[in-house]
Amino acid sequence: MTVTTGGAAAGVGSAHKNVLVEIEDGIAWVTLNRPEKRNAINPGIVYEMVAALDALEADDSAHVVVITGAGDAFSSGQDLKEYFRDVDAGPPVERERLYRANADWQWRRLMFYPKPTIAMVNGWCFGGAFQVLLGCDLALAAEDATFGLSEINWGIIPAGIVTKSVAMALAQRNAMYYIMTGDPFDGKRAAEIGLVNFAVPKAELKDRTRALAKKLMEKNPFVMRAAKTAYHHVRHMSWESSLELLMAKSDQTKFRDPEKGDRKGMSQFLDDKTYRPGLGNYDRRG
Ligand code: COA
Repeated sequence: MTVTTGGAAAGVGSAHKNVLVEIEDGIAWVTLNRPEKRNAINPGIVYEMVAALDALEADDSAHVVVITGAGDAFSSGQDLKEYFRDVDAGPPVERERLYRANADWQWRRLMFYPKPTIAMVNGWCFGGAFQVLLGCDLALAAEDATFGLSEINWGIIPAGIVTKSVAMALAQRNAMYYIMTGDPFDGKRAAEIGLVNFAVPKAELKDRTRALAKKLMEKNPFVMRAAKTAYHHVRHMSWESSLELLMAKSDQTKFRDPEKGDRKGMSQFLDDKTYRPGLGNYDRRG
């Protein structure tokens, strides 16, 4: 991993090269960096991403994490040679270790990451890369990016926990169609079916991603984390349990938010009349 700017993340070391991290104006740009292999996810990417996410969580200069790919690919998915064939031929304990670490960063770690995450899909996005994409909170794609659940084309089911994520994110007809046919589709179609938030011309992708990251950065980070965590939990809970969890989260934000956001927001709206919550954020410095 290379960290060109930033604080604590620099402690991870610069000897590796499968993942690049650059922190710029509060945005951590995390780039999968094997362009010659279309950023196929090998053990190097797995272990460096675990380390990068750990480091960025502790780095106060990183407020939003953007994951993207070097060159013309976001990621071509799990590396068929280094992740599957080579590892299958090695000791089972190493395989288990790798699969655990991969599930960790692509799924648990990203889903419950304390900072907002955005997938910036700049090009090819296949198979296991869907988990990275769906692990992120939000996603933007280049209109001409190419997506595909290509596993059926080479004789396996979608890698890891991808099928579950796709089932949670897409309507059944779309999920089943792409799982069963492996047909590729473009960024516009990805936006149409809700796999990404927006598809934009490739030339605008980075600026649009930066603008979204800045918007997220303006929000209260303590409340942002609670909102994200609550969302992921209540999706799997009963209505009664959801209400309990949400009331507890609401109390947590009210009483433990270090910047006392709700009091500031209420007073700026009701007393000072300096902003409209429906139209934008309260003044966090106010
Ligand atoms: N695993 C391992 N190697 C991969 C890879 C993957 N998922 N995707 C690409 N590569 C390698 C190729 O083997 C090739 O290596 P080489 O230069 O040593 O021959 C290199 O990356 C470039 O790939 P290439 O196929 O020549 O690039 P392309 O631009 O013509 O096509 C893709 C790009 C993504 C359409 C094509 O590489 C592809 O179909 N990849 C597999 C996608 C997939 O099924 N992923 C699911 C995995 S779970």
